[in-house]
Amino acid sequence: MADRLIIFDTTLRDGEQSPGASMTKDEKLRIARQLERLRVDVIEAGFAAASPGDFEAVKAIAEAVRESRICSLARANDRDLSRAAEALRGANAARIHTFIATSELHMEKKLRMTRDQVLEQARLAVRFARNHCDDVEFSPEDGYRSDPDFLCRVIEAVITEGAGTINIPDTVGYAIPELYGEFIADLRRRIPNSDKAIWSVHCHNDLGMAVANSLAGVKIGGARQVECTINGLGERAGNCSLEEVVMAVKTRRDHFGLEVGIDASQIVAASRLVSQTTGFVVQPNKAVVGANAFAHASGIHQDGVLKARDTYEIMRAEDVGWAANKIVLGKLSGRNAFKQRLEQLGIQLDGEAEVNEAFQRFKDLADRKAEVFDEDILALVMEEQADH
Ligand code: KIV
Ligand code: ZN
Repeated sequence: MADRLIIFDTTLRDGEQSPGASMTKDEKLRIARQLERLRVDVIEAGFAAASPGDFEAVKAIAEAVRESRICSLARANDRDLSRAAEALRGANAARIHTFIATSELHMEKKLRMTRDQVLEQARLAVRFARNHCDDVEFSPEDGYRSDPDFLCRVIEAVITEGAGTINIPDTVGYAIPELYGEFIADLRRRIPNSDKAIWSVHCHNDLGMAVANSLAGVKIGGARQVECTINGLGERAGNCSLEEVVMAVKTRRDHFGLEVGIDASQIVAASRLVSQTTGFVVQPNKAVVGANAFAHASGIHQDGVLKARDTYEIMRAEDVGWAANKIVLGKLSGRNAFKQRLEQLGIQLDGEAEVNEAFQRFKDLADRKAEVFDEDILALVMEEQADH
């Protein structure tokens, strides 16, 4: 049996931290239901102590969603942890995710705390959280830029207190795939009780490597949970994108050897919903969910795909929720793609000579127009028939 990779979606928490992406309770609830249809394992529904609105959103999602585990973020203090526990009370399966920064920079400049104080606060927070919830995740914020010796002490202590998931955030997107993977592998080797927890990756995209870093954390580091967001939504340049990481693991199962519980056919619907709700447009060339992700414009590619789809497609558009792949008719298209579109439109021309003539008219038009639509083809065929 293949190992399972847990998909932890944080669109509603870290994704919402993206400037301009703030969502109402009802919007969050709608997205949470779609994440449940997508069969996300854990939904981080928000940060219950952040505002009364976020508390209500976490509470509503905890009460409505039955199939996914619902999580709230909480700083490592009793007030935040109590608010998280209270918001999660109605959940079928709940998780409290607590965090405190462990890098020298954050401890000294932001928290103004010593290493020993941070260690003690992390330990007490996990102990407190465990008294309220049997599933507790701990994150050393800015973990990747933390001193590994200190990180080992903190992580060993929180596992002893009962943290079941240890997440290693690359909070500022500074990691490089191999280095991040080895960083996690090294921590797991050095911490005596490391196998009592599931290890998790949480990568930001400041250098455009959030997905690659997450996959390296899985492959090299042995992490079995990925934290990610729909469309890669998140602060600054965003978070690891759920659709990319999931389809990488599914498509390259030969390499990763992991199972994911995600129903990929719900991916495009989730992407559209998040985009419409936040107003963040998905770039056309975005992997998996961009409008061009399964579109073919060059004649050579179109000809190949019409003969055998896997010549230029490594995934099926239909498998991730698109109606079909797309042959874009334009100046690079060949006769084969044009002829196939005529057939799809139910147009029957009188022999090859007429097809050739229509194809010539199509090419002339395509030189003037970036994309030739079905209506254009119908018009040019009618024109040709009128001329005869
Ligand atoms: O990026 C980060 O460090 C976080 C933590 C709160 C997990 O989002
Ligand atoms: Zn984050």
